[in-house]
Amino acid sequence: MTFNPRKEHEEIRRNLDGISFEDEKVLVTGGAGFLGSWMCEVLLNLGASVTCVDNFASGRRENIAALLEDERFRFIEHDISIPLTVDTPLDYVFHLASRASPFEFERYPIQILKANTMGVLVALGIAKKYRARVLYTSTSEVYGNPGIVPTPESYYGNVNPVGPRGCYDEAKRCGEAYVVAYRRQHGLDTRIARIFNTYGPRIRTDGIYGRVIPRFIDQALSGKPLTIFGDGSQTRSFCYVTDQIEGLLRLAARDAAEGEVINIGNTNEITVLALANMVIAACHSSSDLSFSALPEDDPLRRRPDLTKAREILGWEPRVPLDTGLSRTIGWITETRT
Ligand SMILES: NC(=O)c1ccc[n+]([C@@H]2O[C@H](COP(=O)([O-])OP(=O)(O)OC[C@H]3O[C@@H](n4cnc5c(N)ncnc54)[C@H](O)[C@@H]3O)[C@@H](O)[C@H]2O)c1
Repeated sequence: MTFNPRKEHEEIRRNLDGISFEDEKVLVTGGAGFLGSWMCEVLLNLGASVTCVDNFASGRRENIAALLEDERFRFIEHDISIPLTVDTPLDYVFHLASRASPFEFERYPIQILKANTMGVLVALGIAKKYRARVLYTSTSEVYGNPGIVPTPESYYGNVNPVGPRGCYDEAKRCGEAYVVAYRRQHGLDTRIARIFNTYGPRIRTDGIYGRVIPRFIDQALSGKPLTIFGDGSQTRSFCYVTDQIEGLLRLAARDAAEGEVINIGNTNEITVLALANMVIAACHSSSDLSFSALPEDDPLRRRPDLTKAREILGWEPRVPLDTGLSRTIGWITETRT
């Protein structure tokens, strides 16, 4: 299956049931990344003007190259953890900037902490200036290794602040606290998305950036063994990117979501071992599996409780894993060098 971005953008527009961003002015931090570049494109397609801020820490210039030709798109190359003045009024500030791959946690823990603490403060300061609505992309990692699965937003989490994932998990928890503080003290309209594992075209496959699905696909297409941590019995629930973007836009747009914290992800839980076998079959690959030690603090299960997303946003994911995988494999195959 080939990747047809136009068709997928139209799918998102249709699924949004008339939610419009016509003439809205939106700042997207992290807009050159996987989710951020989808977000910028879809917002432009929905009629918004978009200012994208990114320092290419994990994002790519080619993700936004085509957008630079659109006069409603403006790019500012900048590290969001350093103060920034935006000189045009804004209706929304979407803060997505943060490295998000576990291998990056090891190499760049300070930058990750800064993007989700000082970077959140910079984004909130810009939003406060223009009384813009804020969407913060937090993560299922705030739950750590969860004691309740499916995990509802009311679960406080089981996080190790001094473990290898602490830089990400605790920074996101701190980022949430900043967002809520600006809401309480300055009356900002804020929304927090707790994103569960999301995949799709434009997710990086290379080096430290490769998260489990793109890494497996890359290994399967290269005929290399798929590397599984532990025995592969740990579970994850994978959300396809178009579902994720639709959920985030509903969270940003719906009046009823003001001040809410909402899980956005897919409830279909699968073991990492079953995922590896599914990827091998979908890639028509003869790759083997290779097993190595489970990383410290790797969560055993991940599955969102989507009750709030259903009730407040009228949203639930639609794209099954086999369809999403085949679209992602199509894109990776087309873009591999
Ligand atoms: N994709 C997922 O499964 C997932 C899950 C949970 C949460 N999230 C969150 O969603 C957001 C986007 O994630 P993604 O998957 O698109 O990751 P990504 O790495 O593809 O994108 C992150 C973007 O932020 C930019 N960035 C990082 N630090 C920056 C800084 N200091 N200043 C400016 N730009 C900076 C990067 O260059 C990149 O373009 C992140 O906040 C991440 O924590 C993603």
